[in-house]
Amino acid sequence: MTTPQFIQLYQHNAAAVAQELLQGLSAPQAFTSPKYLYDALGSRLFEAITELPEYDVTRNEAQAMALHTPAMIARLPSGACWIDLGAGNCEKAGRLLGAFSAGRYVAVDISVHFLRHALSCLQRQYPDLPMAGVGLDFSSGLSLPPALGLDPAQPRVLFYPGSSIGNFTPNESLVFLRQLHTCCGTAPGSGLFIGVDLLKDPAELEAAYDDALGVTAAFDLNLLLHINRLVGSDFAVRDWQHLSRFNPVQSRVEMHLQARQTLTVRWPGGERAFAAGETIHTENAYKWRVPDFGALLRQAGFASTEFWTNPAERFAVFWAQA
Ligand code: AVI
Repeated sequence: MTTPQFIQLYQHNAAAVAQELLQGLSAPQAFTSPKYLYDALGSRLFEAITELPEYDVTRNEAQAMALHTPAMIARLPSGACWIDLGAGNCEKAGRLLGAFSAGRYVAVDISVHFLRHALSCLQRQYPDLPMAGVGLDFSSGLSLPPALGLDPAQPRVLFYPGSSIGNFTPNESLVFLRQLHTCCGTAPGSGLFIGVDLLKDPAELEAAYDDALGVTAAFDLNLLLHINRLVGSDFAVRDWQHLSRFNPVQSRVEMHLQARQTLTVRWPGGERAFAAGETIHTENAYKWRVPDFGALLRQAGFASTEFWTNPAERFAVFWAQA
């Protein structure tokens, strides 16, 4: 049995994180990056969100993949290096690896700490498949480390499921997709598998991001506790409420935290006053139409695209040939 290789590139820089957060909180429309929603509790709350009746993104993707696995697998070059972006517990890739003869599996996530357990379980399932875990924050750019020793002659399949691309603006998505295209390398047959949540009824979308149980509200409000730990601020969760709004012009659901009354938030060396009703914009979730996302992939340099949806056509999985 081979053992996984681990490479940790991301290093937490407390000063840079505090500077980024305080800059956003001090802007006329206060905002924060959605990556701060995921501390340990936030990650658990997100897992709970994926089980909510109103939030069908994860189920629709699983349905599309289960239904079309043979067609999807048929596009993949055998012996390819499978690069799983935001691998987490490696569950989604684990399911496909059973059906596809990969030559190598590379799991990328912010910390190899999260990948160790998942990769050692997966390695027991596929004892001869070379595996690696890379700790990298690719939200601000993706380039794979030379230490991985990727073989330029081996085709690469990049895997980016979950519609996380929806949390980028269209411009950011284009920049990121161009980086993914570069990461595909030059071996024939390489490409990108990517999951995209599709545009649907605004009322359903707003409910998906503001469920009756209040799990998404807890997920959003927990950000304030995370910020308090990161910058030493004094946000009081009870002073804020969660909002989800569909923005039809931008084709996105916006999450905001709204001040329940006029208040001032303080942190070492600074403060910010919020009027009652003023918001902090905490996340965008863009919802795409199939032709527009296909066009974006081609603009990013991919030569051809195909897609599969779940039967209700609420979610699409694209294969983009490099
Ligand atoms: C991770 N990402 C794709 C989720 C989404 O649907 O935008 C995050 C999320 N935020 C609220 N609910 C789910």
